[in-house]
Amino acid sequence: MRISQQSIQQITQTADIVEVVSDFVTLKKRGANYAALSPFTNEKSASFYVSPSKQIFKCFSTTKGGDAIKFVMELDKLTYVEALKYLAKKYNIEIIYDKVENEDLDKAAQSERDSLYIIMEYAKNYYKNILVNHPDGKAIGKTYFTERGINDKTITDFELGFALDGWDNLIKDAEKNQFSLELLQKSGVIKNSENNKTFDFFRNRVMYPIHNLTGKTIALAGRILGSDKGTAKYLNSPETDLFKKSEILYGLFQAKQSIRSMDVCLLVEGYMDVLSLYQAGITNAVASAGTALTESQIKLIARYTKNVTVLYDGDKAGIKAAIRSTDLLLDSGLNIKVLIFPDGEDPDSYVNKVGSTEFINFLEKNSKDFISFKTEILLKDVSGDPIKKAEVIHEIVISISKIRDDIQRTLYLKMCSQMLDIDEQVIVSEYNKIKLGEIKKKQVEADKNEQLPTDDQIKENENSKDSLIFLYPLDSNSLAEQEIVRILLEYAEEQMDEDKNVCQFLFSYLENIQFEDPVFLQIIEVFKTELKENKLPTLNYFINFPDKIFEERLTTLLTDKHNLSDVWFDKYQIYVPKKDNDRTGLVNKSLARLNFEKLRKRLKENDIKLRNVSFENIEETDNLLQENIVVKQYQQMYAKELGMIISG
Ligand code: GTP
Ligand code: MN
Repeated sequence: MRISQQSIQQITQTADIVEVVSDFVTLKKRGANYAALSPFTNEKSASFYVSPSKQIFKCFSTTKGGDAIKFVMELDKLTYVEALKYLAKKYNIEIIYDKVENEDLDKAAQSERDSLYIIMEYAKNYYKNILVNHPDGKAIGKTYFTERGINDKTITDFELGFALDGWDNLIKDAEKNQFSLELLQKSGVIKNSENNKTFDFFRNRVMYPIHNLTGKTIALAGRILGSDKGTAKYLNSPETDLFKKSEILYGLFQAKQSIRSMDVCLLVEGYMDVLSLYQAGITNAVASAGTALTESQIKLIARYTKNVTVLYDGDKAGIKAAIRSTDLLLDSGLNIKVLIFPDGEDPDSYVNKVGSTEFINFLEKNSKDFISFKTEILLKDVSGDPIKKAEVIHEIVISISKIRDDIQRTLYLKMCSQMLDIDEQVIVSEYNKIKLGEIKKKQVEADKNEQLPTDDQIKENENSKDSLIFLYPLDSNSLAEQEIVRILLEYAEEQMDEDKNVCQFLFSYLENIQFEDPVFLQIIEVFKTELKENKLPTLNYFINFPDKIFEERLTTLLTDKHNLSDVWFDKYQIYVPKKDNDRTGLVNKSLARLNFEKLRKRLKENDIKLRNVSFENIEETDNLLQENIVVKQYQQMYAKELGMIISG
């Protein structure tokens, strides 16, 4: 049989591309067209367009395009015929078939995928039917669901079923219906034993079909009835051409409309969580089928909403999983909230315990944005340990750095600084450090590839540079002072030459240099005093310094060592030896830089003076001009040492 031309025409004329696409992708009106994130790639900006007037879609990131039929085919990897059937069903069109002479040939030509769909559909219906009609199905399977509070509507909507006890119940039924054993095996519902006997894969289990986005069964999961520790609680049918575990979310077919209309997706861990919530009227929950959340699954969610609330058990594993998932979700540009249940409860048990109103209440009251969540969890372990606190800051800022939205990211950095009681500058500098690390890493990779970067890569690189935040940027003078201070703090006691350590060496040059930054000035003064007694201040001395600002700046300084050279390079194109390996070079360059900055400042001051000096005061003007010449000569000297070229 073949779908008649007449039916094909009716389907193409009725199916509206906007409606068809909207079932899978959230469209935004853009002029006469609609735009969306491409459902075919992991893109971050919308390059997928739908034209209602032309009735076509176009995806610029994959170059896919075409009409409604083509869209359904591409999206769910359907054949032309499957796509037609899908659309006919959606629009309630009755398909009229033509009789074909060589019907058998036609059948043989059906792809294996088609056959697998047919087998899965059959097996699902078989188990479904047993649950409702078979005496054992009713007595055992149905009772199990009833005891767990699952009602008939949920059973129908999720097409739940029951697999009888015994080795060949399905096999016998399938044979009666003339299904090929080979295909049954391929689909994973029956198996071959070592001595080549076939047997049912699912036995004495309640059955949960796993649907794709169009509602077709692509796999089955079965749960044991009790809590027998000896067998796996859940069995999933194996991965096939139809079923890739990491690309499926359980319940998404049933939940997708709610997710879109409520504009939030609840992410839970278990099949039972999805069912119980659905039944309680909370119809926007999905579960990853026993795997850690994957990028493809996230991508699926992102088709319907940008907001995800992750619902996890309150035990340690649950919290760990929650933290892991949130980072992954953030990476994909979604807004994440987290809800942790009281210890020992999961969404299923909790909704059954408190009811749906109370549950929704709990959800609304206790969902935390991920930053508060992560901060709270991590802070529990800190208890006054500054090293741990630094680690926590790092961890959290990594998460924040994944947020795509500029404003949101800035807000979170602010919030994080409040929650951790740390100066915003410290947080921001940690953030910049992470971002710069990413940029450098990408550059190294690009260099390795020895290929010209693509336009996209260049753009992305620019974007990440833009995402650096210079909150209270230190001016170049303060940076120069900071570098000296950092060297003192880290390497003061190291030997510089035969008779001087780094500290002594530096101070033999610093005598006439006035530090301006109040914090750095303080530190320099401490070193000076100690040095007079031939001593060195220990780091502890500074850490216990009573001044809060001071303490925070110090923290930045010490966590910042590699960042600093990056800032120099990016802001002023000055090269700083990496990793401080060349100690002598580092010290000398830092001194040169400080001198250079002081001279630059001197020139600036002189310029101001020159402008204000009265015209008649020739002597003063002359002095200033003379001085400028000398200063400039020195400046050139330092510039040369620093590898800089300065004009005029
Ligand atoms: P109940 O115990 O019936 O409440 O099931 P649940 O859905 O709440 O499962 P649970 O929270 O224990 O586990 C979460 C999910 O992990 C399940 O829904 C399954 O997808 C998966 N899972 C759990 N146990 C197994 C197992 O033994 N094998 C496999 N393959 N998956 C499992
Ligand atoms: Mn459970």
